[in-house]
Amino acid sequence: MTSLTPIRFEEIDLDKIAAAKGRVVVIVTPDGKMDQAARRANRLSKGAIMRFMESERFSKAKPGEVLTLEWPVGLAAEALDVLVLPRNASAVQARKAGAALGKLKGGKPVLVMAGSLKSAPNLALGLVLRDYRFEAHKTADDAGKAPEPVVICHSNAAEMSAAADPLLAVAEGVHFTRDLVNEPANVLTTTEFANRLTEMTALGLEVEVLDEAELDKLGMRTLLSVGQGSDSPSKVVVMQWKGGDEGAAPLALVGKGVVFDTGGISLKPAAGMEDMTMDMGGAGVVSGVMRALALRKAKANVVGLVGLVENMPSGNATRPGDVIRTMKGDTVEVINTDAEGRLVLCDVLWYAQDRFQPAGLVDLATLTGAIIIGLGHENAGVFSNNDAFCASFLKAAEAESEGAWRMPLGQGYDDQLKSRIADMKNVGGRPAGSVTAAQFLKRFVKDEVPWIHLDIAGVASVKSDTAFAPKGATGWGVAALNRLVADKFEG
Ligand code: BES
Ligand code: MN
Ligand code: ZN
Repeated sequence: MTSLTPIRFEEIDLDKIAAAKGRVVVIVTPDGKMDQAARRANRLSKGAIMRFMESERFSKAKPGEVLTLEWPVGLAAEALDVLVLPRNASAVQARKAGAALGKLKGGKPVLVMAGSLKSAPNLALGLVLRDYRFEAHKTADDAGKAPEPVVICHSNAAEMSAAADPLLAVAEGVHFTRDLVNEPANVLTTTEFANRLTEMTALGLEVEVLDEAELDKLGMRTLLSVGQGSDSPSKVVVMQWKGGDEGAAPLALVGKGVVFDTGGISLKPAAGMEDMTMDMGGAGVVSGVMRALALRKAKANVVGLVGLVENMPSGNATRPGDVIRTMKGDTVEVINTDAEGRLVLCDVLWYAQDRFQPAGLVDLATLTGAIIIGLGHENAGVFSNNDAFCASFLKAAEAESEGAWRMPLGQGYDDQLKSRIADMKNVGGRPAGSVTAAQFLKRFVKDEVPWIHLDIAGVASVKSDTAFAPKGATGWGVAALNRLVADKFEG
C-alpha cells in the first residue's frame, strides 16, 4: 500500500534549524510571539520573521495558516515555513495546520520545530493524511517511492510520540481505504479485494472469505443476483477484531463493495461511468477502520463485513422485472438493476445480525446519486433508527472534521417501495431517492438493533482537493468510526 510519511519526534535541538535540508517549520502565535526556535530562525534569516510579523500580510493571517519564505538566507533549507498557531491550539486546529504543511511538503524532508505544542500529535496526523499520492500506476522514476521523513522537535518528544501512535494507526487505515477506492476495477477485482483483506490476518484480524457456493448455501440470493452478470465471483469477507471482553456483543460495520457499477442491464450512460470504480467505497471504509483498530489494538469487539460484487450486463445478468428472495425471506422486484447497492447490503445486513447479534450496526455505501444532489460533497447522509446512537456518531464525525448530516426516515417513504407482485421493489421513484434507499435497508434491520446508514456517494471520492486529501479518494469515515469505537465501545 501507499507508505505513510515517516514521522519522528525528537528532543529540541536548535542547531538543526540552520542545517536541515528541505523545509523548516517554525511556529509563531497569532499575537506575534516567537518561541526559541522561531527566534533562532529569525536571527539566522537576518530578521525575516520579524519583518513578516510587522507586515499587513501577517495581520490578516488566520490561525493555522502557513507563510513561506523561499530560499531563506542563513538556512540550508529551501523553504522556511512560518506557521501561525496559538500555543494552546485545539486538536482540529493543529490537524488542519499539519495538513497545510503536508500539502506544501512535496517530496522534501521537513523539520518542524513544535516547541511544547500539546496538539503536536494531531499536527502529525494532519500532515500524514494530506501527504498522500496514489502513484501505483505512474511509471516515472520517482513515482511511488517512500516519502521523505518529517522530524518534529518537541520539548516532550517521547510522550508526543506515544500519543501520536494511535493517530498514525488511523492515518494508515485512511491510506488503506484511499488506495482501495482509487484502484481501477481491472486491478481491484472482487478476488484481489478479498486477497488484500486476507493479508490483514498478519495484524491480528480474523478474516474469512465466503465464496459463491457458501453464499448460496446461506441464502444470499439478492447479493448473488447483482454479481451474476460478471465473470468476477461474488464474495463476502468477514473481518473480526476481538480486542474487547470475550463474548461482549460487537459493533458490526457493513460495507457496499461494488468493484464496478455499470448499472447492469439498466446500463448507465457512458459519460462519467469511469467514476464507478469508487462504488466499493463503503467496503473500503470498513476495511480501513478494521485496519486502524487492529494497528492500535483497540479494546473493543468489532466485526467488519463487506459484500464484494461487480454489476455487469451479460446474458446471465439479472433483468428489470426479476423477482428475488432475500436471505431474510422477503421478495424484491428488481425494477432497476442500477439500484444494486441495496440488494447487496440487505443480505449482508441480515447475515451480520443473524450471526453476530451486534450491539450496534453501521452500514456505509456509495448508495445514491440523490445524496449528492441533496448534500453535495460536504456531508455524508446519515440515517438512523436510534437517536442516541446517531448523536454519538455525529459527535464523532464533528470531532474528526468529517461532514455528516442526519436525514429523515418515515412510513410515507417506505410506502414508495410497494410492489404489485412482490413484497417490495428496489426503487421508490425520483422523490427522496436517498431516503427510499435507506428505507429499503431499514426493512432488513431488526427494530431492537441500533443502526446507522451512511450514504457516502458524495464524500468517498471528490474532484478537488479537500483539507486532508488531494483529489480522489478521501477515506471519509475511517476517523469518525474509529472515534465512535473509542468513545462508545472501549473501556
Ligand atoms: N453507485 C450508484 C450511486 C452513485 C452515484 C455513487 C454517483 C457515486 C456517485 C448507485 O448504485 C446507483 O446507481 N444509484 C442509482 C439509484 C437509482 C437507479 C434509483 C442512482 O443514484 O441514480
Ligand atoms: Mn448502481
Ligand atoms: Zn452502485
